[in-house]
Amino acid sequence: KRLILIGPPGCGKGTQSPKIKSDHCLCHLATGDMLRAAVAAKTPNGVKAKQAMESGALVSDDIVVGIIEEAVKAPECRNGFILDGFPRTVPQAVKLDEMLSAKGVSIDAVLNFEVPDEVLVERVEGRWIHPASGRSYHTKFAPPKVEGKDDFTGEPLIKRKDDNAETLKSRLQAFHTQTQPVIDYYAIAKKVTEIHANKPASDVEAQIAAALK
Ligand code: AP5
Ligand code: ZN
Repeated sequence: KRLILIGPPGCGKGTQSPKIKSDHCLCHLATGDMLRAAVAAKTPNGVKAKQAMESGALVSDDIVVGIIEEAVKAPECRNGFILDGFPRTVPQAVKLDEMLSAKGVSIDAVLNFEVPDEVLVERVEGRWIHPASGRSYHTKFAPPKVEGKDDFTGEPLIKRKDDNAETLKSRLQAFHTQTQPVIDYYAIAKKVTEIHANKPASDVEAQIAAALK
């Protein structure tokens, strides 16, 4: 399968991806995660992307399209992929379609994670990341593991630089102006399934499983 997860910042794309990945044997391509790694490693793309990311604006289409073009070639993507956070502009979607149709394939489904803006502030402000695995936790909704339990590693959790109320405003604005048209673009092609993502994570997981049956 070739899937797109689309939705506003903090809607749960990263949280739901591991389960979809293991259920359907797909690779998980998250442009935000790849860009954060590039920023941390100070690669040429990372240096170019840093300022936009920290201000909550989108990185240029050329950079992210290049990253995805490379990433889909990986052997673990042979069986299909989950695109998490890409495409985010109509030009990115058009490029993706061209890339896939050149190979005689296309997107199977676009899962549109709907969450009202006012819910996202709390989601983003309470998020903590485990850097080694990329897993997200939430002080209230997905509490981090505690010492002596589960697979607690003792490694410190970190905050994302863009996870504050101020930057979230810019990220939401980018979503509504630049990414909503991508949803409309795939709706015309009848590829969009609505996911009511303002529900507990287990409920969202069940909706996705049903949509991908
Ligand atoms: P990116 O990393 O993609 O950030 P985003 O889209 O803003 O999405 P998030 O990662 O914030 O949210 P998520 O949906 O993954 O939420 P999560 O599951 O963690 O992009 C970052 C930046 O990179 C962009 O701003 C841009 O600059 C750049 N970029 C990336 N892709 C680009 C592209 N294609 N083009 C141009 N620029 C690009 O959940 C959030 C929190 O809520 C967690 O704490 C979680 O535990 C909790 N939670 C999850 N589900 C639930 C639930 N159901 N109920 C309660 N809490 C929940
Ligand atoms: Zn994410």
